[in-house]
Amino acid sequence: MVLILFLGYPLHINMVKICCIGAGYVGGPTMAVIALKCPKIEVVVVDIFEPRIIAWNSDQLPIYEPGLDDVVKQCRGKNLFFSKDVEKHVAEADIVFVSVNTPTKTQGLGAGKAADLTYWESAARMIADVSKSDKIVVEKSTVPVKTAEAIEKILTHNSKGINFQILSNPEFLAEGTAIQDLFKPDRVLIGGRETPEGQKAIQALKDVYAHWVPAERIICTNLWSAELSKLAANAFLAQRISSVNAMSALCEATGADVSQVSHAIGKDTRIGPKFLNASVGFGGSCFQKDILNLVYICECNGLTEVANYWKQVVRVNEYQKTRFVNRVVSSMFNTVSGKKIAILGFAFKKDTGDTRETPAIGVCQGLLGDKAILSIYDPQVPQEQIQRDLSMHKSELDKPPHLRPVSPVAIEQVTCVRDAYEATKGAHGICVLTEWDEFKTLDYQKIYNDMQKPAFVFDGRNVMDVDKLRQIGFIVYSIGKPLDAWLKDMPAVA
Ligand code: NAD
Ligand code: UGA
Repeated sequence: MVLILFLGYPLHINMVKICCIGAGYVGGPTMAVIALKCPKIEVVVVDIFEPRIIAWNSDQLPIYEPGLDDVVKQCRGKNLFFSKDVEKHVAEADIVFVSVNTPTKTQGLGAGKAADLTYWESAARMIADVSKSDKIVVEKSTVPVKTAEAIEKILTHNSKGINFQILSNPEFLAEGTAIQDLFKPDRVLIGGRETPEGQKAIQALKDVYAHWVPAERIICTNLWSAELSKLAANAFLAQRISSVNAMSALCEATGADVSQVSHAIGKDTRIGPKFLNASVGFGGSCFQKDILNLVYICECNGLTEVANYWKQVVRVNEYQKTRFVNRVVSSMFNTVSGKKIAILGFAFKKDTGDTRETPAIGVCQGLLGDKAILSIYDPQVPQEQIQRDLSMHKSELDKPPHLRPVSPVAIEQVTCVRDAYEATKGAHGICVLTEWDEFKTLDYQKIYNDMQKPAFVFDGRNVMDVDKLRQIGFIVYSIGKPLDAWLKDMPAVA
């Protein structure tokens, strides 16, 4: 029988109960994988948003993620459960993961930058209220460095003598590849207090991951290093994208090809090849929010130069979207007013239906600002979500769909269609905004025949076969690639 130590007491592993607060993009898949890999641990994922729990218990899971259905089917009802009975399952758990949303604050002190910890704080207060036994509380959400200290205070001041140990165990999965990231993580990071109790708690969580993660990939640090490493990792990843996107503008100005530049620099083992794809800009719920949060923490610590350095990563991302819109408009005789533009892809990356902070929102709003008529197709994003995203205020965009306000009126110039051929029929131009595989294999000759002439393709993801499209007759713009003769004559100023 395998033994683990739980807050100093040896426990049989089949007695451990895990509860995860928050059944979102992180809580759902992460807990499903823990349940699959640890059949003797009972895992319950709870959420206050009932429709999400109903969906997790149905055949239509609330999020689209390759491989997730299989994992859930294998363990749901055995040792994996989804419930809205938050308090009951928190009370019964030995280890409580907190994986609630931590969006950017929209009001008050630090608005527009600091993390909004309202959801986290209310989860912590509820844990303190309902607990009757010692617990390890694990920060799974991405939080500002030193959050554990605040959480510790909330828990210990309301503890009724119960012992809580706080761990930071940030999640590094990426959407679209979440299951493979969870099966084979580059590393699992666990931060805890440097006290004997803290170290025991680290060991207990380490024992959970040790079911499938090799020991050398489990890194243990102090609490603050773990919290900061998560923000730092996202900032470094986003910084690579902004760096290559900045280069893409220079490539267009000089005739260099950004893919060739990325390839050449990526061969340097000190730089490496990943995350060097130029694009219309990074999206997703986390990069921007986590960098802004980092900026805020730097400012609070009087580190203005450091804050300004990281701010620039977000600014270049905004610049890249504006630059793209300007290219589209200037190429099409400086106006898209009344012109049909097909938008292929709306999700922030392929293989997800998530649209939080997708660059497609900024691009579509830019084109609508110039009075374009948009016909949008995305294989995973439903029409009402697109309409809601486009009519929403920017501050609401990193919220999960159910926490966003309902759109007052649908935008008239926007239609959402069910396939790429319908979207492009009669269009003047096509903008490829998500790199879905199916866009590579469309019949572009047929598409060209059905479009207005001259017919344009603006590839915001560098996934199109540019030579083939030019042979067909398209005028093609690809981010960071040598410009079509047509475009050279129409400089776009961002
Ligand atoms: P999400 O919005 O999809 O899910 C969060 C869930 O928490 C929601 O369903 C919400 O209803 C629930 N919730 C909020 N307060 C609650 C409470 N008091 N009790 C019970 N349920 C509550 O968010 P997400 O994308 O899963 O992200 C969660 C955290 O993980 C964030 O801090 C994020 O930065 C971080 N993160 C996200 C990703 C990602 O790929 N999405 C990756 C790594 C880390
Ligand atoms: C990112 C990180 O990769 C995860 O490690 C992290 O856990 C997660 O954020 C988080 O904290 O939420 P995610 O946002 O899901 O994951 O997806 P990425 O693959 O990182 O892509 C983010 C954005 O950057 C997408 O819009 C993508 O299209 C864009 N991107 C990515 C580029 O434009 N170029 C690249 O080379 C790579």
